Amino acid sequence: MYGRLAHRAFKLMAAAPIDGCLVEFGVYRGDGLLTMARLARRYLAPPPLMYGFDSFTGMPPTEVPLRSILRQGWAEGVCSDTSVELVQDRLRAHGVSARLIKGMFGEIAPLREYGIEQVRFAVIDCDLYEGFRDALRLLTPHVRVGTVLMFDDLIPPTDHRHQSVREHGKRAVEEWEHAVSMNLHLIRIDAPMALCVLVDEAYLERYARAILPLKRDQWGDLATSYARQYLGDGGLAPLKRVRDSLRGLVRRY
Ligand SMILES: C[S@@+](CC[C@H](N)C(=O)[O-])C[C@H]1O[C@@H](n2cnc3c(N)ncnc32)[C@H](O)[C@@H]1O
Repeated sequence: MYGRLAHRAFKLMAAAPIDGCLVEFGVYRGDGLLTMARLARRYLAPPPLMYGFDSFTGMPPTEVPLRSILRQGWAEGVCSDTSVELVQDRLRAHGVSARLIKGMFGEIAPLREYGIEQVRFAVIDCDLYEGFRDALRLLTPHVRVGTVLMFDDLIPPTDHRHQSVREHGKRAVEEWEHAVSMNLHLIRIDAPMALCVLVDEAYLERYARAILPLKRDQWGDLATSYARQYLGDGGLAPLKRVRDSLRGLVRRY
């Protein structure tokens, strides 16, 4: 799921700490929360509280065009094979605790009512324009300089079939940035995902040395990009299996 970009997000949070909780808008079956919990244990001590927001009823309808394969991929009802109970059970099985809040982002109460004061890290992974817009509206009073944000799907990948992504995450984030006049600093795009942090001059002066390496490619990024170029997206799956087996072996010995 969030892969290499999420590691960069947590490295930045560790290097430039602020108080606050971790939130995800668009939980589905909880894979994102599980990754967040794993990375929080590795990079942040003590791991902050986690919250997950979702309708748990699958993708809602949208007023905004969906073209090509996204017409099926993001169609109403996709991702409905989940529930609060299913996600709670999965989290419990991994020893992870998170508060799950069920509802459409446009209808749920302000985040303060769930005990949220400040947000340290927010992932918005709800694909559609309206979800992005409403999640950002909820987040606005709780973000500040130093809040790290990860958006999935923000930037369409090169594939021509994904170009209507542009009218969803990208449009909502651009409108939000304009409306709140905060400085959303883009650290890195691994299309369709983007990693950003809210900054001001003082933050950048203090943490530029932590941010700059996070913008650069590492060998794993280069390997992924070459594999994509020569094998296509489908070709990455066998490579990931080899990588996971090697990691398993390293952990065992
Ligand atoms: C792509 S899935 C999230 C995947 C998840 N982050 C993961 O890592 O596995 C998108 C989720 O967003 C939720 N969603 C989309 N728009 C929403 C909205 N406006 N309000 C509430 N939930 C929404 C859907 O129910 C779906 O579960």
